[in-house]
Amino acid sequence: MGSVDRAYNIADLRNIALKRVPKGLFEFVDRGTEDEVSLRHNRAVFERIRFKPRTLVDVSKRSQEITLFGKRHKMPLIIAPTGTAGLMWYQGEIALARAAADAGIPFTLATGSMTAMETVAKEAGGTLWFQLYMWPDRSLSHKLVERAKAAGYEALVVTVDGVVPGNREYNLRNGFTIPFTFTRRNITDVLLHPRWMFGVLGRYLVTTGMPRYQNYPTDIKYRITAGPMGRSSMRTDSLSWDDLRALRKIWPHKLLVKGILHPQDATTAADCGADGVIVSNHGGRNLDGVISPIEALPEIADAVGKRVTVLVDSGFRRGSDVAKALALGAHGVQIGRPTLYGVAAGGEEGARRAIAIFRSEIDRVMALNGCRSIAEFTMEHLHAPDFHLRAADAVRPGLKLLDTAKAAER
Ligand SMILES: Cc1cc2nc3c(=O)[nH]c(=O)nc-3n(C[C@H](O)[C@H](O)[C@H](O)COP(=O)(O)O)c2cc1C
Repeated sequence: MGSVDRAYNIADLRNIALKRVPKGLFEFVDRGTEDEVSLRHNRAVFERIRFKPRTLVDVSKRSQEITLFGKRHKMPLIIAPTGTAGLMWYQGEIALARAAADAGIPFTLATGSMTAMETVAKEAGGTLWFQLYMWPDRSLSHKLVERAKAAGYEALVVTVDGVVPGNREYNLRNGFTIPFTFTRRNITDVLLHPRWMFGVLGRYLVTTGMPRYQNYPTDIKYRITAGPMGRSSMRTDSLSWDDLRALRKIWPHKLLVKGILHPQDATTAADCGADGVIVSNHGGRNLDGVISPIEALPEIADAVGKRVTVLVDSGFRRGSDVAKALALGAHGVQIGRPTLYGVAAGGEEGARRAIAIFRSEIDRVMALNGCRSIAEFTMEHLHAPDFHLRAADAVRPGLKLLDTAKAAER
């Protein structure tokens, strides 16, 4: 029995990951921004929503299947884009994508991945989405989009909540940079984690060299000087709706906007031709003190849930969290850190374990709530007296309509 088999929940996988990867890297993945108010709030908010289960329903046949953009998926989950998956494990992006394909859920590759998008597409299969950070030179970004199209990615996820990097002071203290460079502090950190030093860093050094952003154009990839993680970015703060309209023109497949928290922005994204919005606060990593996506979800689902697909992420650690979001109007839930902990703990096997934990937890929550399908999860199954009081009345009728739409789609 491998160590990941002894992980019974996502917190167990996190504990294994904590021991396996250098502290600087673990903190980069695990922590939030500034005082981490949003990071804690993302979790705390789930406790304000409780289930109001139905009983004596024959739930002996249960299905977690959902349909996204006309395609069936075996679970209501999507793996979120995370730039450092390839530092958790050698070619960690491939491990994650294979685990996702095996579980029948989509995987999203980040612009800032350590493995090139073409390699992931060739090695992994399954449903692949590509996440885009726009660069100041729009023509370079458009070339990246062309590459994603040529490599067969089915959806483009444009991230709009990271126009400047979050203020993550621990990265400065830990001296962790991309491209990776050695400092006295992180050499000690790495030496204390020999399995990571040989199994991850060592394997890159003997194959492709120092871990780098492999999707970046060659000259830039080698020109970027190392900066603390998240601060050496090429992202642009001049991103606007015009950029989204321009992307809509050149991208023929599904287009999603990630990092929406305001219903008006969700509506504008739909007006610009987006096929979906991802309600997200980036896992509490960018703007501290921001609203939790779960709090923003009912109003956004009410505003655009019948026009476009509404996904949500940030802080989901249990199947019960996923069920609550689905009942509040989400069509699917993205997970970021849970599968990163898994891949750090045991590569592809660890990522599979993280997904399997969610699968069994969602299944149990469905049965105990008297639900046979995801479409059967509605606001009727929730008790949330202090939650979204202002929007509750306005949202409730909308959600009823949305439920019908969800049932039809699923
Ligand atoms: C280590 C790490 C790297 C991330 N990199 C990206 C990225 O490159 N692009 C992006 O859109 N989101 C990125 N995210 C945000 C995730 O896509 C997602 O919104 C977030 O992780 C969800 O919260 P959770 O980790 O609590 O599930 C990153 C998150 C983490 C933890």
